[in-house]
Amino acid sequence: MKILITGGTNGMGKGVAKALAAHSGEENEIIILCRSEALGLKTIDEIKKESPGATLSLALCDLSDMGSVRNAALTIKSRHDFLDSIFINAGLGYASQRIETPDGMDSHFQVNYLSQFYLVAQLLGLLEKSTRGGRVIFNATPGGKIYWDDMQMSKQWNYEDAIHQAMAAKRMLLITLHELYKEKANKVSFIGFSIHQTVWTNQINIIPASMRIMATIMKVFGLFISIEKCGEIMAPLFMEYAQETGKKSGSLITWKKGGFEKLPENDEVLNIGAREKLLGSSIALCKDEAIGAIFAEAFSKERI
Ligand SMILES: NC(=O)c1ccc[n+]([C@@H]2O[C@H](COP(=O)([O-])OP(=O)(O)OC[C@H]3O[C@@H](n4cnc5c(N)ncnc54)[C@H](OP(=O)(O)O)[C@@H]3O)[C@@H](O)[C@H]2O)c1
Repeated sequence: MKILITGGTNGMGKGVAKALAAHSGEENEIIILCRSEALGLKTIDEIKKESPGATLSLALCDLSDMGSVRNAALTIKSRHDFLDSIFINAGLGYASQRIETPDGMDSHFQVNYLSQFYLVAQLLGLLEKSTRGGRVIFNATPGGKIYWDDMQMSKQWNYEDAIHQAMAAKRMLLITLHELYKEKANKVSFIGFSIHQTVWTNQINIIPASMRIMATIMKVFGLFISIEKCGEIMAPLFMEYAQETGKKSGSLITWKKGGFEKLPENDEVLNIGAREKLLGSSIALCKDEAIGAIFAEAFSKERI
């Protein structure tokens, strides 16, 4: 399987990269999309020490820059004829203040959602060429809402609302994409995965000292899981047969009692009008005509 992982240099993305690299029976090829070449190479070294036979490469991309996303997609398409899966995972967590990107957007909105919408849209053609059943797994959590009047949250911002807005947007996107591919012969599946327990990730180094102390106490009581455990749980989603993946497409799932289980979705995310509104806004923000064309075949131009 050829798997692209956004944010594979730390946390959950790194955990999944490690688990997939360790599956010697499966010839997994892992492409780590990351913003720092040095950190990317260090991650490859670390994984290769654990799994010497693993095939890993980097795709450099700063998700806070739409130009960088465009270039990364072009580079990936020039190097690869197909992709079997993408893990949409990279994301900003805690932040003490709103940071505006050079593209003039809220960094959580752009990094956690919009740039990865743009990336996936450009790579759908490669997923369609998978002979194993192309799939996109979105790292998602339930809840959240779209701030329609101020999506860039310039009037009222806090990091939790910004994270949750991006989560709701990702879940709306995965349903839109599932709908788009429902009737297609070259099927691609789109699945949201919500981890059942908090993962001990690089966020621990970013949060304020008071939160770090709390987290450390909670860790003693077993309230966190490691990135390795998280990777072990998630790895089957990337390797299972297309038929199994197809059954989960369009849903948000979690891990419960040793198996994957569907979670209920909220009304706004299920609302087709809201999803089309978000799709229209996302296409406009990408400022790339080719992106509109990808979705125009599924939705009439008047509706988006
Ligand atoms: N931890 C949990 O329990 C948990 C639970 C549910 C959902 N999540 C979600 O899981 C995702 C990953 O979180 P995590 O906890 O694993 O965090 P993490 O350890 O901080 O990892 C975040 C990853 O995103 C990358 N990233 C951040 N900004 C980027 C940018 N501008 N361009 C490219 N890559 C960028 C980071 O790259 P660098 O290595 O260069 O910083 C890193 O690889 C997030 O979307 C988070 O909301 C986490």
